[in-house]
Amino acid sequence: MTVHFIGAGPGAADLLTLRGRDLIATSPVCLYAGSLVPAEVLDHCPPDARVINTASMDLDAIMDEIVRAHAAGQDVARLHSGDLSVWSAMGEQLRRLRGLDIPFTVTPGVPAFAAAAAALEAELTLPALTQSVVLTRTPGRASTMPPAESLANFAATGATLAIHLSIHNLDRVVTDLAPFYGNECPVAVVWRASWPDQRIVRATLKTIEAAVAGSMERTALILVGPVLAADDFLESSLYAKGYDRRFRPQHAGSRYAATTE
Ligand SMILES: C[S@@+](CC[C@H](N)C(=O)[O-])C[C@H]1O[C@@H](n2cnc3c(N)ncnc32)[C@H](O)[C@@H]1O
Repeated sequence: MTVHFIGAGPGAADLLTLRGRDLIATSPVCLYAGSLVPAEVLDHCPPDARVINTASMDLDAIMDEIVRAHAAGQDVARLHSGDLSVWSAMGEQLRRLRGLDIPFTVTPGVPAFAAAAAALEAELTLPALTQSVVLTRTPGRASTMPPAESLANFAATGATLAIHLSIHNLDRVVTDLAPFYGNECPVAVVWRASWPDQRIVRATLKTIEAAVAGSMERTALILVGPVLAADDFLESSLYAKGYDRRFRPQHAGSRYAATTE
């Protein structure tokens, strides 16, 4: 018996990995994390599967379900939205499973920030402009932030920011970032990226609050940074004519000329 943690993706049912789909299809028990996992993903469960929404359960109750499946020798598909590496609460479940000696696997999913960038048709790192993306959030009712992980500290780097779990804090996001990025810095808010009702609002730090006007709740991602409106950025060296590299040696004396791999 194995518990399969599976990133269920950002919303669109076909943004699930084939591995995730196959594990769901062969697990007699499916525990899924609330409304962010689309019903079509649950359609991959076997017809007689025990399918449980864990949104209203505490960790002990979730573990009880897993222990019960373990005793019955039944695999469990454990679904969380997006990818499992950020804000999934997988860490505490894995710690309990290790303590109980229950085997598990982890299958990644498409994270919300990638779905939002795709919706914006944007590359979040551009040559010489921004080479880092910060996945962060603002403090919430259940989660404080480590003091050094302030928006101001991240903003001081000039990186592209992907701010999760914060649409209700948009005023604070704007106040904290404007001194670093400037009022004219582009901002995009993507609500329910990849879902059929996806919405996008593009504005600047100065205008984003008025543009959103409280029209979006919960499942929205705030992206901030000059890459969102950059047009005159440099082309990457990777595809530049004459750039000598392993897969495109430029001359007989190239240090890559004899490379066969
Ligand atoms: C608990 S976190 C889950 C993050 C998820 N594990 C991931 O990989 O993206 C939930 C937050 O992720 C963002 N989010 C999740 N799905 C989204 C989507 N489809 N569109 C926009 N933002 C989304 C929102 O900021 C939301 O408040």
